[in-house]
Amino acid sequence: MKKKVLGDFFQDFLSKKSFFLDKKPLQSSHTPETIPHRDKEIKQIANILAPILKLQKPSNIFIYGKTGTGKTLTIKYITKTLLETTNTKNVPLKVVYLNCKLKRAADTEYRLIAQITREFGKAIPPTGLPTDEVYRLFTNVVEKQNQTTLLILDEIDQLIKKTGDDVLYNLTRMNEELKNSQISLIGVSNDLQFAEHLDPRVRSSLSEEEIVFPPYNALQIQDILKQRANKAFKEGSLEQGVIEKCSAYAAREHGDSRRALELLRVAGEIAERNDCDKVGLKHVDEADKKIENDKIFNIVKAQPKQFQTTLYAILSLEQETKGFVFTGEVYELYKQLCFKTSLTPLTQRRVSDILAEFDMLGMINTRVISKGRYGRTREISLAIPSSSLPQIKKTLEEELTLS
Ligand SMILES: Nc1ncnc2c1ncn2[C@@H]1O[C@H](COP(=O)(O)OP(=O)(O)O)[C@@H](O)[C@H]1O
Ligand SMILES: [Mg+2]
Repeated sequence: MKKKVLGDFFQDFLSKKSFFLDKKPLQSSHTPETIPHRDKEIKQIANILAPILKLQKPSNIFIYGKTGTGKTLTIKYITKTLLETTNTKNVPLKVVYLNCKLKRAADTEYRLIAQITREFGKAIPPTGLPTDEVYRLFTNVVEKQNQTTLLILDEIDQLIKKTGDDVLYNLTRMNEELKNSQISLIGVSNDLQFAEHLDPRVRSSLSEEEIVFPPYNALQIQDILKQRANKAFKEGSLEQGVIEKCSAYAAREHGDSRRALELLRVAGEIAERNDCDKVGLKHVDEADKKIENDKIFNIVKAQPKQFQTTLYAILSLEQETKGFVFTGEVYELYKQLCFKTSLTPLTQRRVSDILAEFDMLGMINTRVISKGRYGRTREISLAIPSSSLPQIKKTLEEELTLS
């Protein structure tokens, strides 16, 4: 490209008008000034935590609800306001917030306790001590503080998946050894079934109080979006009905405010890139497609090679037959592909497990059909939108160096 052409491109870019005043209010990490439609939940939680102000131990709380129902926002908002009050009243309180889903979050019981202990300014070697000893050091540190500690474990289901539930048992029992301090737990989970898999003793101590965050309906999401859109977009940037459409889409599966915010931001970006006068309804549709597409891509890319090879076999067969594919055929082609890519083939049994997982992820549908005396087989059909298929196939070819 000639230097002048590139220079002109940058000039054009600068003089282009933007719809956005500030994109930050559309990010999920943004904290709005008010939190509509969560008064009841805020009151419930505030009631449980308020005894802290009188130096009493609050109950442990277990909060659950689907993604984008405002759990993280609400708990951060409440604890921030609580800390402002305790600071002015000289009430000793420490709040430790951990998001267990983040990459840098602890993945063993040892590392988790070490990580929390570090929050109190005491270093624990990253490995090498017996777990009992780590707990002893942690208990000592907490005891010395002479205060209430509120330990918030956000996305706690992710932690328990990695470490098992011993850690919760041990944490909920800590108060028995504390005299001058106390610790209360707030566990937050997006996974509604999570608590059912816990040891009953752990469950009953974690959920001394249980709070459910119900999904928002489309009208509630509109309120949330309007508040954020007013700060994010210049006046008159949005065509009539854009907020309503984003809200309706986000309420389709469950009332997910994160999805609504993302739709609105991506729609704005698409309209801007296409030099349109306003962000329109069609841009919301395009944004919806793009987000779905990106989601499938991320899933495909994150899969191990064996999964990718299996998926590639399904895609290839589907393209050939333009319809249903049978598990036996998938396995045969999978084996050939393994040979090409120098992968050790798994047993048919394991590949069946992989297929079951794809089914669970919503990428394929399977149906058991009887073949009379030849036994039974499973019939597979793709659940990925056909418009994404060529690109997914190409991505897999690159990932598996097949082409
Ligand atoms: N009632 C609300 N008012 C304003 N913004 C909200 C509300 N509920 C959720 N949000 C916003 O939606 C996004 C997702 O909320 P979040 O608290 O992260 O959900 P969860 O933790 O339940 O998955 C965040 O950007 C948050 O600020
Ligand atoms: Mg959250």
